[in-house]
Amino acid sequence: MSADVFGLNKNTIVAAAVSCAAVFGVAALMRGGTASAIGWAAVIVAASAAAAILAFTIVFSVLFGAPYLPTDRRNLASMMELAAVKPGDRVADLGSGDGRILIAAAKLGATAEGWEVNPLIWAWSLWRVRRAGVGKSVRLHLGSYWGAPMSGFSVVTLFLIQSKMPRMARKLRQELAAGSRVVSYVFKFSEWEPAATNGHGVRLYVMPGDRK
Ligand SMILES: C[S@@+](CC[C@H](N)C(=O)[O-])C[C@H]1O[C@@H](n2cnc3c(N)ncnc32)[C@H](O)[C@@H]1O
Repeated sequence: MSADVFGLNKNTIVAAAVSCAAVFGVAALMRGGTASAIGWAAVIVAASAAAAILAFTIVFSVLFGAPYLPTDRRNLASMMELAAVKPGDRVADLGSGDGRILIAAAKLGATAEGWEVNPLIWAWSLWRVRRAGVGKSVRLHLGSYWGAPMSGFSVVTLFLIQSKMPRMARKLRQELAAGSRVVSYVFKFSEWEPAATNGHGVRLYVMPGDRK
């Protein structure tokens, strides 16, 4: 199984495991006797797992703003293309999710660092990066991107949420060197003019020489 196929189906796999436990539980309940006790246990485990995963994800979304939603393959390729990621680039993905952008950048010869605040997703990304064989080119930080030092990065990738964009614009203008490329998926920097767009939500911004 290739890394991408497995990675894209992560949520499906968890949902399938929980559903299997639930189906097994219901079947055992219908048979009665000892099977019934096993059935109840399976239903309780499945319900608890589903509730825990849902609660954890919702709590993180509410607290930190951007929910976990991976960039699709086509737009990820566009992000790399518009930013012209190449060997020698240092790429930062702020809110790095399952690590797919870092993996793509590393495969293009760049070094890449991600900041991810959700420990479950961060742990998953660690495993994906290792499995993709790019561990030497990728660093994964567990923590908020607001504290991530941006100096030295030539490319920054973002898939945040609109309410976080003004603060992120101030951070990037203060910390990035002139000429650094910033690629945002879906959400715009309202005060900046994009240098390019793919027409499907990916926008490239190039840091100007002056600082505001
Ligand atoms: C929409 S997802 C994008 C994931 C990945 N960049 C991609 O494009 O596939 C946003 C990610 O940002 C993470 N996140 C939200 N707020 C954060 C913060 N303050 N610091 C670090 N990560 C954060 C979320 O947990 C989520 O995984």
